[in-house]
This record gives sequence, C-alpha cells and structure tokens, in this order.
Amino acid sequence: MLDQNVHFRPGTVEDGPGLKELYRLTVLANAKGSYPQEDVERWSTAFNLEAWPQRLQDLTVIVAEVGNELAGVASFDSEECLVQTCYVHPRFNRQGIGRQPLGLLEAKAKSTGCQQVTLDASLNAVPFYEKCGYRAIEREIRIYGERPFVVVKMAKSLA
Ligand SMILES: CC(C)(COP(=O)(O)OP(=O)(O)OC[C@H]1O[C@@H](n2cnc3c(N)ncnc32)[C@H](O)[C@@H]1OP(=O)(O)O)[C@@H](O)C(=O)NCCC(=O)NCCS
Repeated sequence: MLDQNVHFRPGTVEDGPGLKELYRLTVLANAKGSYPQEDVERWSTAFNLEAWPQRLQDLTVIVAEVGNELAGVASFDSEECLVQTCYVHPRFNRQGIGRQPLGLLEAKAKSTGCQQVTLDASLNAVPFYEKCGYRAIEREIRIYGERPFVVVKMAKSLA
C-alpha cells in the first residue's frame, strides 16, 4: 500500500497533457502481452487532447493525485451507467489507487439511480475489475484502427 496520501478531485482542462502521458505510459506498461504490440502502441497514443474539454463536459471525471503528481484517472457516463476509463500511472500500480476512484464513481452511479454499472475491460484489466466486484458477461470484438481489438463486457450490481 502507498505510504503517501492520495487525494481525489474532479478532472480539469489543465490535466489533459499530463493525463495523455499517464495513459501512454500505463498502457505500454500494462497491456504488453495481452495484445499484439502494434495494437498496444496505437492504444497508448489514443488519448485525444482536443476532445478532452468536451469529455469533461460529458462525463464525470475523477483524478487521483499523490502530492502534486497525477497518479490516476477514472471517468463515468451517468446516462449509460458506464465506466469509460480507469487508468493509473505505472509508478503507482498495485498500490490500491485504481479501485478508489472506481468506488467513488460507483457511489455516484448509485446516487443517480443506476442499478448496475457496466464497462468494457481490456484483457489486461479483467483481473483488476474482478477484484473490484465486476463479473465478465461476454467477450466482444471492437474494430480499432481497422484491426480487431478484444474487450470483455463486465458488470457490477449496485443493488
Ligand atoms: C487496471 C489498472 C487501472 C489497475 O490499477 P491499480 O491502481 O494498479 O489497481 P489497484 O492497486 O487498485 O488493484 C485493486 C486490486 O486488483 C488487483 N490487480 C490490479 N491489477 C491487476 C492485474 N493486472 N492482475 C491481477 N490483479 C490485479 C490488485 O492486486 C488489487 O487486489 P487486492 O485488492 O487483492 O489487493 C492499471 O493497471 C492500469 O491503469 N492499467 C492500464 C490501463 C487499463 O488497462 N485500464 C483499464 C482499461 S479498461
């Protein structure tokens, strides 16, 4: 477990560049071996800085910080009761950070009337989500950069 304090706050436009780099590093570190390297590299650069301000409008975005350092981010679509993202900087992996913003989003989902939360897990993240109480429903194939990209649809009841 982390011996420094983690705090959580809403994401801001200014977080964009730092989060883009966090995405890149954590995807390269964590998805290697779960997908062909070409797909890992494409995914690692997929954070869209131009679209970030609009994402902040459309989603609930929670950022985790350790000191002044960006440690993670998770986002949630309230209309769809769907977790969109959960990413933790590789420097802070396996220290209990990822599950915390996820828990905060689940509490918000419950308060806004979601009976369950769903998400599309990348293969590398399935064990993490299982630990967080999600169950796998089915494998789905997405087309990503004109190539198939397998994800696992998962759900957690909030009842
Ligand atoms: C998936 C991810 C968010 C996990 O974040 P994290 O902060 O390392 O996870 P936590 O430390 O909160 O882990 C919670 C539990 O899941 C387990 N866990 C986390 N990653 C795991 C993995 N790859 N394999 C097995 N178990 C894992 C932890 O051991 C912990 O279990 P415990 O409660 O028994 O101690 C992080 O690895 C990541 O950013 N990956 C790359 C991006 C990604 O794939 N995001 C998901 C997209 S769908």
